[in-house]
Amino acid sequence: IAIIMDGNGRWAKKRFLPRVAGHKRGLETVRETVRTCTELGVEYLTLFAFSSENWRRPDEEVSFLMGLFMQALEREVDRLHGRNIRLKIVGHLARFSGELQARIEVAQLKTAGNTGLTLTICADYGGRWDIAQAAQKVVAQGQELTPENLDKAMALAHVPDPDLMIRTGGETRISNFLLWQAAYSELFFSDCLWPDFDEAALDEAIS
Ligand code: IPE
Ligand code: IPE
Ligand code: MG
Repeated sequence: IAIIMDGNGRWAKKRFLPRVAGHKRGLETVRETVRTCTELGVEYLTLFAFSSENWRRPDEEVSFLMGLFMQALEREVDRLHGRNIRLKIVGHLARFSGELQARIEVAQLKTAGNTGLTLTICADYGGRWDIAQAAQKVVAQGQELTPENLDKAMALAHVPDPDLMIRTGGETRISNFLLWQAAYSELFFSDCLWPDFDEAALDEAIS
């Protein structure tokens, strides 16, 4: 299952709160979604947390999201590890602070041997970026540019193509998420704003 978690800002706006309050609530939905997927026996959950294009948002919002990401890595990794979850962070990452990159590295190493849910967080990720970096890798290795070779060079190579791709928040577009991997995914668009996307909503999407 792959999810484009959209609608945090509108959730906050509806409540006359700052947009960042929606991101904070959105993190709680992430927690709940991970728990539900673990219980359901889902093997791979891939979440779109921050796109290549999201750097264009106001500085304050970007800093808040980075802080939230940092905090989540500090506070959640032990719990994820305790539940046998393997955590992967996929994206360009070079634009993240050194501190954040180090924490990502620690979290991935710590959970690398886990055999339960593989939770992949796409951060500073774009489908076009992944295709381009994979092509560069294939060429640099002197291999032929075939779909199979590209597939193996993708940053998301550890995840099978999703059966189901969900977008919350009512927009019916892909916004540069899994361009390569979603070739045959079922697409499910929900009007539910991400902070409101609960277990019942996920069940509905899966059904
Ligand atoms: C998704 O919610 C979270 C991120 C892109 C980081 P938005 O922030 O896009 O919320 P809306 O779409 O403005 O409601
Ligand atoms: C998609 O949401 C990206 C993430 C959920 C991280 P956006 O809100 O950034 O997408 P657009 O701008 O509406 O296409
Ligand atoms: Mg949005």
